[in-house]
Amino acid sequence: MNYLVRDVRPYGEGEPVDVRLVDGAIAEIGTGLSDGDSRVYAGGGAVLLPGLVDLHTHLREPGREDAETVETGTLAAALGGFTAVHAMANTDPVADTAGVVEQVWRLGQEAGHCDVAPVGAVTVGLRGEQMAELGTMADSAARVRVFSDDGTCVSDASLMRRALEYVKAFDGVIAQHAQEPRLTVGAQMNEGVVSSRLGLTGWPAVAEEAVIARDCLLAAHVGSRLHVCHVSTAGSVELIRWAKSKGWDVTAEVTPHHLVLTDDLAASYDPVFKVNPPLRTAADVAALRAGLADGTIDCVATDNAPHALEDKEAEWGAALPGMTGLETALGIVAETMVLPGRLTWRQVAERLSSTPARIGRLEGHGRPLAVGEPANLCLVDEAAPWTVDAATMATRSRNTPFAGRSLPVGVRATFLRGTPTVLDGAPA
Ligand code: DOR
Repeated sequence: MNYLVRDVRPYGEGEPVDVRLVDGAIAEIGTGLSDGDSRVYAGGGAVLLPGLVDLHTHLREPGREDAETVETGTLAAALGGFTAVHAMANTDPVADTAGVVEQVWRLGQEAGHCDVAPVGAVTVGLRGEQMAELGTMADSAARVRVFSDDGTCVSDASLMRRALEYVKAFDGVIAQHAQEPRLTVGAQMNEGVVSSRLGLTGWPAVAEEAVIARDCLLAAHVGSRLHVCHVSTAGSVELIRWAKSKGWDVTAEVTPHHLVLTDDLAASYDPVFKVNPPLRTAADVAALRAGLADGTIDCVATDNAPHALEDKEAEWGAALPGMTGLETALGIVAETMVLPGRLTWRQVAERLSSTPARIGRLEGHGRPLAVGEPANLCLVDEAAPWTVDAATMATRSRNTPFAGRSLPVGVRATFLRGTPTVLDGAPA
């Protein structure tokens, strides 16, 4: 079925236009287009953006289907405006072979809510000892281009160097979870005034920054691509800025939660606020917002980390780190970046769609809103505040730190290659 989407504002600019979607692509953009044989969807003046692309999602399948499945996680993604997500490798079994990445990719195709680009592990079993078969994963049906041991750091400098060298052969990228393990043994939260007061073991900024500095130097040394996951400190922003000023091929992401939440929330001892890297200080939040605004930080990535109730509703020390984020990401970006005038919608399209698609070498996503381009789209209602209700979300998990919070914008519709996955804010 072909759609005629009426009254939408591409990138939130100018007067509303109509957009015709034919055979999965944008066929026509104009005013007063005739219905023809298209089904009409009333856009109601919504902002039209290219479908969002997440570089960093945990879908938990295979292995922890009680926390999330590819089906439920990708539905949550579509409701959040995403048309593609990169699925992290820390599953059980780990996505360190062609077999596992192909399984995850195929499950995504079958679910049909959004495209799933599996991330391959850098090391066998995420153990940080032996390089996984990166080339086989790259050559597989899943076409893996992003490799990460996320959840744990590739801390061995020699192994990291070899992985960076290896992925050059197929234009891949190593996405590093920057955390020096010896500096974070037993860490429970950001190291600072609040951790001292609460008596919780601290996770110092230097544990992130030392690895970022090392990896930027390694990437420059071998002429490869480095992507830094979930940057969380002001010092990290400075280091990325320095690496970019040298012309090195280094990119970085920030999560929505690090753009808005701070470490004093740990005083509640509510483990919904436990995450890795931890929530930092207000000064870090300000630096992250500024870095995202000026392009030092290339993109927003959710680090959506669903967890089963028994893993999360424990005392702080025993609870697993992580927060869900797919359904709330755009709302948090609107609240922290768009409404205060730090980013335009066009820049949001770069930071949440075209740039992550480029970093992940993902074809058909993050393309301009233009005739002939794939109809991967999302419609954003600018004046539709909604209150986050953990109980009614599509994700199988309930660990959102934003429950009860009012978010200023909502996703009205999402189209994947011209077919709606979400209409009127509900699964199509
Ligand atoms: O909080 C986190 N949770 N950070 C990570 O790096 C991993 C993630 C998970 O897999 O739960």
